[in-house]
Formats: sequence, structure tokens, C-alpha cells
Amino acid sequence: MSSETNSSFQIKRLNPYFGAEISGIDLSKDIDEETFSKIKDAYYEYSLLVFHDQRISPKVHVDFSKRFGSLEIHSLKQYLLEDHPEILLLSNIIENGKPIGFADTERVATWHTDTSYLKTPSAGSALYALEVPYDSKGNSLGNTLFASTFAAYDALSEDMKIKLRDLKALHKMTKAYDDAPKDTITAVKFTDEQIKRPPENHPIIRTHPVTGRKSIYLSPLCVTKIEGIPEAESKKILQELDKLCTREDFVYRHKWKANDLIMWDNCSTQHLAVSDYAPPLRRKMHRTTFAGSIPF
Ligand code: SIN
Repeated sequence: MSSETNSSFQIKRLNPYFGAEISGIDLSKDIDEETFSKIKDAYYEYSLLVFHDQRISPKVHVDFSKRFGSLEIHSLKQYLLEDHPEILLLSNIIENGKPIGFADTERVATWHTDTSYLKTPSAGSALYALEVPYDSKGNSLGNTLFASTFAAYDALSEDMKIKLRDLKALHKMTKAYDDAPKDTITAVKFTDEQIKRPPENHPIIRTHPVTGRKSIYLSPLCVTKIEGIPEAESKKILQELDKLCTREDFVYRHKWKANDLIMWDNCSTQHLAVSDYAPPLRRKMHRTTFAGSIPF
């Protein structure tokens, strides 16, 4: 890390409800505690931070991420960087007949919040773009959409807030694959243990562990039903809430450029990776993930 320091930065809002672009920070240089604490405040305030034009090594990526909490090691061991197992390689690139990274986020392009099927889901992630695909007109492909579930909660009627207050949804790791036609080929090969893992229940209205703000905590990729109410009613409510969570004005679309780093908060956002490219176009990203707490 360079000995030059960062001491101030600018914040530009990306969407009326959430998301901010941070400029004036070079993540490869030292960030003092005071500046870092302002970045952290911005992360909790905006739920999503975008840093452009960062030239960072895996070590810098890991060290910066660690300042947000302990880092998780992904279960897909084959796609972890050898020297930095806290980094998961996401990519569609095939080398010597083998995928170099986890490509399933592109193939299962469904709105989700990460690892909601765990008792203690991930708090957030920092995703760094090394290679980005473009179409022949120069448009960036493989965009990522983010939605603010704080905004979705705020938009609920008071009656709905009361109705949802004590309800929990069931989150199952393999839901998307259980629902898929049996001949679907995906990069994910779940173990018997994962397939049999019982779903976790989490409150639909979640309180942010740091700010206390409320969000709608659902993940269409994994949520199978609302616990304790009839199936038809559960389906109807989930459809309504999924639609609200991804309402057009609550969504920010990130058109990646190489060297962008994005951090998102899993408690107050959902995201979806757009699957609109294929080899020979290449997408290569490094992701770290911060450990979270039990939703309440
Ligand atoms: C993810 O779903 O964690 C990654 C999103 C992306 O690859 O754009």
C-alpha cells in the first residue's frame, strides 16, 4: 500500500432512494480512521457505494473489506484465489476446458440477497471488476441491478406494515434449482447435505443491525413461502412484495467499467446480475463478503 493518504472525498447520490458514488478516494492508498469512518457511515446511509477507477491488488481488496467486518470464505473452494481465499472469483471465462470462476450468478439471474438461506446471512459484499464485456456498440454488458428494500419498506401501507410485522419467510438454499427443469445444467453441484438442509426462517420486516432502519427482507431466489399462513395467501403476498422491492424507481442499474468496486449492504438491498453476454466476451470479478448477524 502506498504511504500517500486519502483524507477527504465527495459523495454523489445515484438514485433518489439509495446508492452513492464516492470520488476522491484511492483505495490503494492509506485511509486514516477518520476518513474510513465517514466511508462506513456513507455505506450504512446509502446501502451501496461505487468507487470508480481503482487499481487494487487482491491484498488491498481484502484489507479494505476487512475493515467492514470479518470476511467469509465461500463454500465453492475451487473458485477461491489461492493466496487470498477471502476472494471468490466470479467469471464466465473457460480456460483449458474448465471455468476459472463461479458463473452461476449470471445463469441464475434472479433477484436475491446473498446467503439468506443461512441462519446468519452475509452482511454485505465488495465486488471488483477486472474484465467487463461490451457489445459491438460499446455498451457495457453484464450489468448488475440493485434495489433498495429500505425504500420498499417505507412504501408499504401502515396496514401492511402491521400485517407483516410478525411474519417470517422460509429461505431455502437450493430453491431455484429445485424449481428448475431437471435437465438444467448449472455450475452449482449441491451436495446431499445442502439439498437436504432445512430452510431458515427470517422476519420479513428486518431491522438493520447498525442503523435500526427497517427493510423488507426477502430473496426471490431462495424464499419458498411465508411460514404459518395458507399457501395461496403466502404466494399472493410474496408476489406483491417482490414487485414492490424491485419497483423501477427503487432500482439502480450499474453499468460496469473495469476497475469499478461496488459495496452493497445485504440487509437493505437485493441484486440481480444481468445475463446478456457469453464467451468469447469475458467477465471477471473478485468478490469479498462480510460476515453478518442473525436477522431480527
Ligand atoms: C453476486 O450476485 O454476488 C454478483 C453480482 C454480479 O456478478 O454482478
